[in-house]
Amino acid sequence: MSLQLDARQRAILGAMGLRLYEAVPPAQAAASVPSVRVAQTKPMPVAKAPAAPIAPMGSGAIELMEWDALAQAVAQCQACKLCSGRTNTVFGVGDTQADWLIVGDAPGEAEDLQGEPFIGPAGKLLDNMLKALGLDRNNKVYITNVLKCRPPGDRNPEPEELAQCEPFLRRQVQLLQPKIVLAMGRFAVQALLGTTEPIGKLRGRAHEYLGIPLVVTYHPSYLLRNLPDKAKAWADLCLAQQLVRAQG
Ligand code: URA
Repeated sequence: MSLQLDARQRAILGAMGLRLYEAVPPAQAAASVPSVRVAQTKPMPVAKAPAAPIAPMGSGAIELMEWDALAQAVAQCQACKLCSGRTNTVFGVGDTQADWLIVGDAPGEAEDLQGEPFIGPAGKLLDNMLKALGLDRNNKVYITNVLKCRPPGDRNPEPEELAQCEPFLRRQVQLLQPKIVLAMGRFAVQALLGTTEPIGKLRGRAHEYLGIPLVVTYHPSYLLRNLPDKAKAWADLCLAQQLVRAQG
């Protein structure tokens, strides 16, 4: 699939460091984007969702909570040791009627201080990527992380922490019922698909989480360090958009 980009979108792609669609005509560019190959009408291989983890301690029936109760449960959660080091929990931000759910790994320092996901440099890149698709974090998009608390020193999340937090994410997905879940980063992928396969092997095709199409892509922080992979991430976003549009 080729997105027809207008001058503004090309400018935004330029700001992301992507020249893919500026350098070649859209039809040619589409031919070079892997999403063309992967967005087939044939059934695609679907990774299995992980087994339901143990519910966070004292959390009540998370699977029955509405938005306010869920946000409060997250704010009060003490299910793992991350609660002791946090300034704020980071529940999520955006449109609760969103078509797109974007799931990152874990809050960093800026997110912990402000209680909002993806507001540092990686968040700026994410915002630019969304703009290139005609989206923004408050319109048709909801952004959250697998972990709702910052791991100390931004270390990797531990399996126990991922397991304790997963029910919150699961409930967010159930409440949102988005048309697409975009998993950005290896811990997002691990929690949602229950696999430790590398992103390079999982991207470029549709997976599924709770019956909702899921696309895997690189984390924006990784893209800031690995500029050539931005073109692959753009192809993943195009695939995600194609899957959204296919649902009307
Ligand atoms: N990285 C993430 O995965 N999430 C954030 O909110 C910020 C950085």
